[in-house]
Amino acid sequence: MAAYACAVTTPARGAEGPGLPAVIIAPSLLAADFARLGDEAAAVEVDADWLHIDVMDYHYVPNLTIGLPVVHSLRKATSLPFDCHLMIDEPRRWAVSYAEAGAVNVTFHAEASDDPVRLAGELRSAGAMAGLAIDRDTPVEPYLEILPHFDTLLIMTIKAGFGGQEFIPRLLDKVRTARRHVDSGHLQLRVEVDGGIDEQTVIEAALAGADAFVAGTAVYGAADPGAAIRALRRSAHAAVSNRP
Ligand code: DX5
Ligand code: ZN
Repeated sequence: MAAYACAVTTPARGAEGPGLPAVIIAPSLLAADFARLGDEAAAVEVDADWLHIDVMDYHYVPNLTIGLPVVHSLRKATSLPFDCHLMIDEPRRWAVSYAEAGAVNVTFHAEASDDPVRLAGELRSAGAMAGLAIDRDTPVEPYLEILPHFDTLLIMTIKAGFGGQEFIPRLLDKVRTARRHVDSGHLQLRVEVDGGIDEQTVIEAALAGADAFVAGTAVYGAADPGAAIRALRRSAHAAVSNRP
């Protein structure tokens, strides 16, 4: 648990710290066929590291997706670790339930939380990694001080709310800042990017310092989702190895 020092007694699959792969590819179910979610999860079972599940509440973001009952059902349909991305108001009402439903990582938005450190502690106590997300218009600097309480930092590379948007390169400055703090030993974090990740932008994000990559359209919009994941992984690996 060196890289993920948190109060986890029984790490879920995918939370084993040193056993975590150098690059995590997390296909986002948001781009899947919602009438066939179990099959869509199965389609990426062999190749994905985590399954990214976007929970939206029609309030924090203007879109509405899936919630806890669907996550419970999906938990029985796949053994992939769940990476739950809560785009909801009042995350404290729901976040721990996602950990209890078996999510390996539960990410909530900094903008939506009045006490992120407390919620991170509750998630870790519930056996999950705690993730902090920052949206397009939120700087990372004000949160650096609290990031030691988190295991993942999700940097949106679009405006949260919808899949299929165009990647915004300037947001990688936040990734560079986070990576500097990790490399200098100030933080121990997975730096995750979400939004517009494809075979080209995954390289830019990896060079900037990301090591976990969410991809919806690039995976589920492909004829062969497994092959798309493998291609993303190859590109990300090559870029991570060449990082300055
Ligand atoms: C959007 C979601 C993303 C979305 C990414 O707010 O957080 O996870 O699925 O989709 P793509 O990869 O299509 O940009
Ligand atoms: Zn997401």
